[in-house]
Amino acid sequence: MLIGVPKEIKTNEKRVALTPGGVDALRANGHQVIVETNAGVGSGFSNDAYIAAGATIIDTAAEVYAKADMIMKVKEPIAPEYSLIRKGQTLFTYFHFAASRELTEAMVNAGATCIAYETVQKADGSLPLLIPMSEVAGRMATQEGAKYLEHPMGGRGILLGGVPGTRPAEVVVLGGGVVGTNAAKMAAGLGASVTLFDNNLYRLRYLNDVMPANVVTQMSTNANIREAVKTADLVVGGVLIVGAKAPHLITRDMLSTMKPGSVIVDVSVDQGGCVETCKPTTHENPTYVVDGVVHYGVANMPGAVPYTSTIALTNATLPYAIQLANHGWKDACKASKELELGINVVDGKIVYEAVAEAFGMEYTPMDQCW
Ligand SMILES: NC(=O)c1ccc[n+]([C@@H]2O[C@H](COP(=O)([O-])OP(=O)(O)OC[C@H]3O[C@@H](n4cnc5c(N)ncnc54)[C@H](O)[C@@H]3O)[C@@H](O)[C@H]2O)c1
Repeated sequence: MLIGVPKEIKTNEKRVALTPGGVDALRANGHQVIVETNAGVGSGFSNDAYIAAGATIIDTAAEVYAKADMIMKVKEPIAPEYSLIRKGQTLFTYFHFAASRELTEAMVNAGATCIAYETVQKADGSLPLLIPMSEVAGRMATQEGAKYLEHPMGGRGILLGGVPGTRPAEVVVLGGGVVGTNAAKMAAGLGASVTLFDNNLYRLRYLNDVMPANVVTQMSTNANIREAVKTADLVVGGVLIVGAKAPHLITRDMLSTMKPGSVIVDVSVDQGGCVETCKPTTHENPTYVVDGVVHYGVANMPGAVPYTSTIALTNATLPYAIQLANHGWKDACKASKELELGINVVDGKIVYEAVAEAFGMEYTPMDQCW
């Protein structure tokens, strides 16, 4: 199969869909890979690195789309890319269709097979192609929190781990999933005193077993959170209720009980945020202050560390990309339920019910489309 990797053109997107190592693995499986010139530069991968791995460098996106049987991307296609996508072509990328009617209609009209990273799902319900970005965002949350706690950045001037003879910072983490456990581990590793909240007792039991001694677990109740934020230096929000808006666990009235210069990093801001006063911000202008509390609400945190994010993403997508390339999308998806769940649009039909529902568009069950 001929696999094409265009350069991402969404503002500030520096990630790329495949590392040179990914190209090498696809080549080893007998496939050809074409990469748009400078597609990997933002992630630290030169054209020469791709050539050394066996890829061919192509001058324009138009040519990549015109030649490739399967396009691998990071972000959903945007308007200038719509007309380049061909009927029968396979697209493997993040789509987040339910967030955009325009994108959904464009892909229906294009007639391509759209396999969305975010809906590839394992039998246990986990989303293997979302996990790496949550790992990155969770680890970054602590790093960003530590940065904005510094006085010149607007924070109260406390070092997360303290030094001998001083108290370490208190870190409250809301949600003990992928984001939360990664944030908690980083904060604990730096020597902070961490409280990790979840509303799932089984999850708390597990976390209590595996977390270091400076992490305590607590049941997520309004009373417990209200008490914990009073002494918190850093709060990390990482709750998720699948398919729903995040619940506001920290309400506006709680802010006035928090210490001036404390910091909230609400990673779940992309689902509405678990802090009432959190709103989406950008890497250019990441923070704002409400009631003396610094709020950080960047909705695409992994974009700040494209080198790590690109490698982490390729590690997760590559096994699926190899299946798709080796067998073609139809046979690969018939053989793998988790990959089948990734199919959102095929041959002009919406086959993912939640997407059709979101826009009142026609839903066609996948078993009518093989
Ligand atoms: N801002 C970014 O750049 C970025 C990047 C990656 C992920 N995210 C977002 O971060 C959020 C968390 O993702 P994740 O991968 O960790 O999800 P996850 O499903 O692994 O974890 C969510 C956790 O929240 C817990 N939870 C649900 N309701 C709760 C409540 N009321 N109180 C306490 N805990 C509760 C669940 O039990 C679960 O353990 C998602 O909204 C995701 O989209 C944002």
